[in-house]
Amino acid sequence: MDLGALNGLFAIPGHLHFEAGQGGLTKAVVDNPLATCELYFHGAHVTAYHPKGFEETLWLSDAAIFTEDKAIRGGIPLCWPWFGPHPSDAALPQHGFARNSFWTLFGTSVNGRGETVLRLGLQDSDATRSLFSREFMLEYVVTVGSTLTLELTTTNRGSEPFEITEALHSYFRVTSIEETVIEGFADKTYRDKTDGGSQKCQIGAVVVTEETDRVYDDADPSCCLRCADRMIEIAKFGSAHTVVWNPWQEKAAAMGDFDDDGYRHMVCIEAANTGEGGIILNPDASHTLTQRILPFL
Ligand code: BG6
Repeated sequence: MDLGALNGLFAIPGHLHFEAGQGGLTKAVVDNPLATCELYFHGAHVTAYHPKGFEETLWLSDAAIFTEDKAIRGGIPLCWPWFGPHPSDAALPQHGFARNSFWTLFGTSVNGRGETVLRLGLQDSDATRSLFSREFMLEYVVTVGSTLTLELTTTNRGSEPFEITEALHSYFRVTSIEETVIEGFADKTYRDKTDGGSQKCQIGAVVVTEETDRVYDDADPSCCLRCADRMIEIAKFGSAHTVVWNPWQEKAAAMGDFDDDGYRHMVCIEAANTGEGGIILNPDASHTLTQRILPFL
């Protein structure tokens, strides 16, 4: 659908319109009385969320590449139907294909709280079945207000059960990683992917001072990101794991789409169901993974 038709059908004055974004990819631009937000149809990828009276909450790499065959570095990529490397075929794309797929806009609306709601979908096609042989419907609802709510619902539309792993892989912007702490993980166990996956126990708050790649497996439904000048609560539902990731200097420099200094200004806090707790869906069954971002004004 071209931009004229999209705007004709789905734009909402005072809330939302559509325009060509970076790389010519189509994006939705929300600007309502509560917040601004941008979402690319490529990957159903939220790249910015800025509640009014607050700062931008999400980190987007200055070197991010906007093309149809690559995930955007930063914002909120969707990892689905597997998280990390494919469990049995290393040739398949890391973190699945949802973040590289073009999503369809199902609808837009304004809810009773004056928030803007976008509803997008992705269903199986020849392209997806070549990577994941299942019949599915994915629905993604993004609600933009003084909080940002992301709800990813998977439905099994086939006749056999299947298993997925997944993540809402949110990159949060921090003024300086040296002055950032993440609270809510004290005494929780985690798998340290920078140390061969060994099990460890979190002592106190999470402070990122080196490459960090952790899967917390009994994480509370909410944690708190505190930086020098802001505080954000990050809540989740339908998620067995929380992933905390920062590639640190060397790995960031090795990534072509990660600006070299970017690791000092971001941390990922991801609502996930990883390999240790994949979701098994029977025919017609659904599962929803939710993350809610609540900035403290
Ligand atoms: C995190 C993983 O979720 O994503 C890391 O735990 C991974 O292991 C990171 O390196 C980034 O992945 P990608 O594919 O976007 O570079």
